[in-house]
Amino acid sequence: MSSKPKQEEQHRRADFASKKGEVVLRPHEYDGIQEFDQKLPNWWLLTFYSAIIFYLIYWFIYYQAGLIKTDQAAVTEAISAIQIQKEKALEETLATLDDKTLVHEWATDGSIVAEGEKIYSQVCIACHGPDLDAPNKLGLSLVDHEWKYGDTPMDIFKIINAGTPAESKGMPPTGARMIPWGATYTGKQIAQLVAFIISKNPEDFSKF
Ligand code: HEC
Repeated sequence: MSSKPKQEEQHRRADFASKKGEVVLRPHEYDGIQEFDQKLPNWWLLTFYSAIIFYLIYWFIYYQAGLIKTDQAAVTEAISAIQIQKEKALEETLATLDDKTLVHEWATDGSIVAEGEKIYSQVCIACHGPDLDAPNKLGLSLVDHEWKYGDTPMDIFKIINAGTPAESKGMPPTGARMIPWGATYTGKQIAQLVAFIISKNPEDFSKF
């Protein structure tokens, strides 16, 4: 316990900076534990008070006045702009697309089919296999002449674009479902995939 008068104690404290190395203790002690009474270094105080001032300015600019958009708002805005663009592009593709066009224009165009094959062999091949017969049973065979979700080219477009419908139980016996590839690919790319699938099943689609 320090028994020095208060004034002297304060004087010593104020003086501390000039007498580096001297330790000032506060005048209490609990269970043998004492407490330093030291002024923090100026560089530390400057950082501390600057952080508080910075916070206040930041909080005002971003959250009160809304002068600058937060990163989250900017990202959300950019994503919804992309989403709107994608939906518009899909609508435009769908407006020009029907079963006949897919079979007689898209699937007979070598460069369109090649584009579809490129995406197929990068992604779809994992579950549907190199020969589209799904040898590992991770997806349905696309060459067994059975079209679970409809046998028209537009049905196939739909299942690729939107994935397994919510009401479907998926593929027996595992219940495996397919994700909506429309989240990854544009309407045009999905039409290219459909063209590729049609080109591998000419007899199924000759009726269109
Ligand atoms: C992770 C595995 C997986 C990948 C990758 C995958 N699929 Fe599928 N696919 C499935 C499963 C599982 C089903 C069956 C879903 C069901 O029965 O609901 C399916 C079903 C389909 C069907 C419906 C077949 C029918 O008989 O109606 C088509 C068409 C299809 N996929 C095309 C594609 C295309 C094109 C790609 C690449 C963009 C692709 N799939 C990528 C797992 C996959």
